[in-house]
Amino acid sequence: MGPLSASPCTLHITWKELLLTASLLIFWNPPTTAQVMIEAQPTKLSEGKDVLLLVYNLPQNLTGYSWYKGQIMDLQHYIAAYTIDTEMIVFGPAYSGRETVYSNASLLIQNVTKNDTGSYTIQITKQGDETKGVTGHFTLYLETPKPYISSSNLNPREGTETVILSCDPDTQDVSYLWWINGQSLPISHKLQLSENNRTLSLFGVTKDTAGPYECEMKNPGSSSHSDPVTLNLLSPKLKQPGENRILILDNGTRNDTGPYECEIWGQVGSTPSDPVTLDVLYGPHIPSIFAPFPYYRSGEKLYLYCFADSNPPAEYSWTINGKFLKSGQDLFIREITTKHSGIYGCSARNSATGSSSSTSKTIKVSGKWIPASLAIGF
Ligand SMILES: *[C@@H]1O[C@H](CO)[C@@H](O)[C@H](O)[C@H]1NC(C)=O
Ligand SMILES: *[C@@H]1O[C@H](CO)[C@@H](O)[C@H](O)[C@H]1NC(C)=O
Ligand SMILES: *[C@@H]1O[C@H](CO)[C@@H](O)[C@H](O)[C@H]1NC(C)=O
Ligand SMILES: *[C@@H]1O[C@H](CO)[C@@H](O)[C@H](O)[C@H]1NC(C)=O
Ligand SMILES: *[C@@H]1O[C@H](CO)[C@@H](O)[C@H](O)[C@H]1NC(C)=O
Ligand SMILES: *[C@@H]1O[C@H](CO)[C@@H](O)[C@H](O)[C@H]1NC(C)=O
Ligand SMILES: *[C@@H]1O[C@H](CO)[C@@H](O)[C@H](O)[C@H]1NC(C)=O
Repeated sequence: MGPLSASPCTLHITWKELLLTASLLIFWNPPTTAQVMIEAQPTKLSEGKDVLLLVYNLPQNLTGYSWYKGQIMDLQHYIAAYTIDTEMIVFGPAYSGRETVYSNASLLIQNVTKNDTGSYTIQITKQGDETKGVTGHFTLYLETPKPYISSSNLNPREGTETVILSCDPDTQDVSYLWWINGQSLPISHKLQLSENNRTLSLFGVTKDTAGPYECEMKNPGSSSHSDPVTLNLLSPKLKQPGENRILILDNGTRNDTGPYECEIWGQVGSTPSDPVTLDVLYGPHIPSIFAPFPYYRSGEKLYLYCFADSNPPAEYSWTINGKFLKSGQDLFIREITTKHSGIYGCSARNSATGSSSSTSKTIKVSGKWIPASLAIGF
């Protein structure tokens, strides 16, 4: 059994004869016998390659086969017919010039294009029973290409910007699937898929929805997975003008403190820089005075502690009734007397920012024991 090419006699087949052949096939009854098996070789097929549709389980005593593009067996979809007696091939309107029918019924399609995908039907006629045939179907798919995720914005500002991810390339007859953090997409009003699932809109990206995202393209013949893509969230205060080479922090706050690194991307990968630590100076904020007890009696200890948020840490000083008492963050008096009653002030100063801030607390010392309810006088 060798390949058969269109013999010169093919050309002499009249349209009438062709129609006759075709009409014989059209008016066949539905197949009653076991279906033949069709298998593609190779099973994974990409554009521009050749594919052989191998036919197995052929019945015996055959008179010929016809191949159709699609599942409709009419003249319009008729690719080629082969008659065993005459070893003749008759081509039909659906013949593209790239198909070859072998004497064993297999169909070779060369240089496959997207248009060649879809279903194929073979009809097989048996001797002495021209009105009954056996059919076989096969659906040809191209291997899905490896998809990649494109993003409308890889560096969205946290919580504010909408990002649209798309699974590319746009391919026909495939379904798209998405994953976030290795899981299927949660149902959320912050995530919205397009009708064919190819694009995914993210409204107000946060750490939870920054990814990594992966997409998959799938048809019944194959599936392929993209590489993961993670969005780089920018604090709403960050700005990256130009080509991301310069980073500007508007009105830096203490939250911007920390190590910063930049990365250069090129064709051979990426190179991160050494980190530079940004130290944001601030404060002092209004100090708080912490006192273990609300009231005191003569002879007790007085312990006061002052704190103001500040970078670098603040320097503290204490006053009583406006008069300087001491420097330092805490104030300790071993044995107080009523003379220690008064307004205690704590002043915090940040020498780096040049700012100061202060607060005060009234401390009452009673001479002897009194009920607590009367002592809370401040
Ligand atoms: C049919 O013939 C072709 C070409 O000779 C061959 O490659 C193929 O394996 C044959 N098919 C079967 C099912 O034997
Ligand atoms: C095939 O045809 C021969 C005679 O031509 C017959 O003897 C044989 O039974 C037939 N086989 C089938 C499976 O129909
Ligand atoms: C395959 O088809 C493309 C366009 O359909 C054509 O450019 C190319 O030359 C063909 N290749 C072969 C090997 O026939
Ligand atoms: C695919 O089919 C369309 C319409 O049927 C046609 O316009 C196009 O040229 C075909 N492409 C190839 C590569 O055969
Ligand atoms: C889109 O994906 C959802 C699940 O995320 C699925 O139920 C639906 O059938 C898909 N739609 C299409 C057109 O593939
Ligand atoms: C930064 O601070 C200045 C003055 O305090 C203000 O006018 C400006 O809007 C602030 N910019 C941002 C991005 O917060
Ligand atoms: C710093 O971050 C904390 C927690 O994320 C937030 O509560 C606070 O408002 C931020 N402060 C500034 C000045 O942005």
